[in-house]
Amino acid sequence: MQETENTVEKTIDENRQGEVLSGVGNKNSSKKMYIESYGCQMNFSDSEIAASVLSKKGYTTTNNIDDADVVFLNTCSIRDNAEVTIKKRLKHIVGNKRKNPNLKVGILGCMAERLKSKLLEEEKLVDLVAGPDAYRDLPNLMDKLDGGDKSVNVQLSRDETYSDIDPVRINSNGITAFISIMRGCDNMCTFCVVPFTRGRERSRDPKSILDEAKNLYAKGYKEITLLGQNVDSYRWSDDPNLRGKSLKEAPRKDVIDFSKLLELVAEIAPDFRIRFTTSHPKDITDDVLYSMKKYDNICKYIHLPAQSGNSRILEKMNRTYTREWYLEKVNKIREIIPECAISTDIITGFCSESDGDHQDTVSLMKEVVYDYAYMFFYSERPGTLAAKKFDDDVPLATKKSRLREIIDVQTENNKITNNKCVGETYQVLIEKFSKKSDKDLCGRNSNYRTIVFPAEDYKAGEYVNVKIVRATGGTLIGEVVGRVEF
Ligand code: 5AD
Ligand code: SF4
Repeated sequence: MQETENTVEKTIDENRQGEVLSGVGNKNSSKKMYIESYGCQMNFSDSEIAASVLSKKGYTTTNNIDDADVVFLNTCSIRDNAEVTIKKRLKHIVGNKRKNPNLKVGILGCMAERLKSKLLEEEKLVDLVAGPDAYRDLPNLMDKLDGGDKSVNVQLSRDETYSDIDPVRINSNGITAFISIMRGCDNMCTFCVVPFTRGRERSRDPKSILDEAKNLYAKGYKEITLLGQNVDSYRWSDDPNLRGKSLKEAPRKDVIDFSKLLELVAEIAPDFRIRFTTSHPKDITDDVLYSMKKYDNICKYIHLPAQSGNSRILEKMNRTYTREWYLEKVNKIREIIPECAISTDIITGFCSESDGDHQDTVSLMKEVVYDYAYMFFYSERPGTLAAKKFDDDVPLATKKSRLREIIDVQTENNKITNNKCVGETYQVLIEKFSKKSDKDLCGRNSNYRTIVFPAEDYKAGEYVNVKIVRATGGTLIGEVVGRVEF
């Protein structure tokens, strides 16, 4: 999943921290919920599922915390600083109980799963703890609170995909939406807590994905992002005998894999754009690349986290590829889809990383010239394989100075990739007015670049061709040369 810190080329989505869901549910209901979400896009998508489950039981959402009967924080555990931020926020929120003693406070998501009932001991004023696979149980967990008890459900599931739950689209621009296509992760990267907080990998029934996508298109949405921790290992069969390992090993003709799913979704309509994230370099296949090439409406952008440019560190991270193998994958993408944008995640200062190893990351970033990069310093997470097996032996100051160095490299990459766009014409899906002026509109091209241009009589939701006249900071400035005909 794309993350939120040290993002050169920050975007609205990646900056969504502590965002609030508002305005859903049965207006006659007396109970109001307030949900704040942290972390990756999957968490924001999950909040829409949790809100949907509770709205069926008469809860409405509010964006005024002082109005709420229950406050939920949908939390992230990926790095220690994410948890620190959330705990500070939690302290502030439970403080509201002084004003409103009937207020209930619930923790959802990865921190709920990681800390389980310990959260109730550490944070005495928390009432409810529900992990990522327990949202169907929320009404029941809420009922238990009425008796003054606390409630916890952190059971992980091997098959929960919430496929039948129609997420409520809240804080939505009515144009772009997320669709979750799978849950969990089986990869066991040694630094990562996700396999422990989100459990085993499972794919969602393609019929329900297609229904959700068609529904969104019928409502006027123009772009969806298919979400999963590792979308390229999406695999589905209706045959009940094909499950788990046998499904993974079944011949391609017997299953719907990610490339087939992409094509099915792309067929919905030519003016319905498809994005996806996240791809693991080991799993993205040439079939996926050819599907992307075949359909104009599958956006030409791949988030392909490298994590490091040094093969020894990659092995220690259990990424299962080498630097050379990764670079070949990048070459393959560019051979099949020359115009494809590529982004990465990088971790600096992983266990035993030397200056020389770090320089391999610097040189990888210079060699690939990424369009965007999400960069972090290593944060040891309790329970992970790295925490059990390796010393977190790179001093914090070194981790941070290495991080600064790669941020500088990416800032240069941004200049290079942005300047290349000047003079080009791109198809842009208009999303909204620009932040700086309501005389300008902005949207993204297929490569996920933000483009700003004079509004004239164009509207959000329309596709226009825009010629880029200049590049400033992270933004491209252009002029519309005409509407796009489909
Ligand atoms: N420390 C720092 N960054 C991490 N990530 C995952 N786990 C950690 C960790 N323990 C980063 C990876 C991943 C992204 C979502 O978060 O780069 O791709
Ligand atoms: Fe974590 Fe690796 Fe799975 Fe991504 S692929 S969620 S980094 S274990």
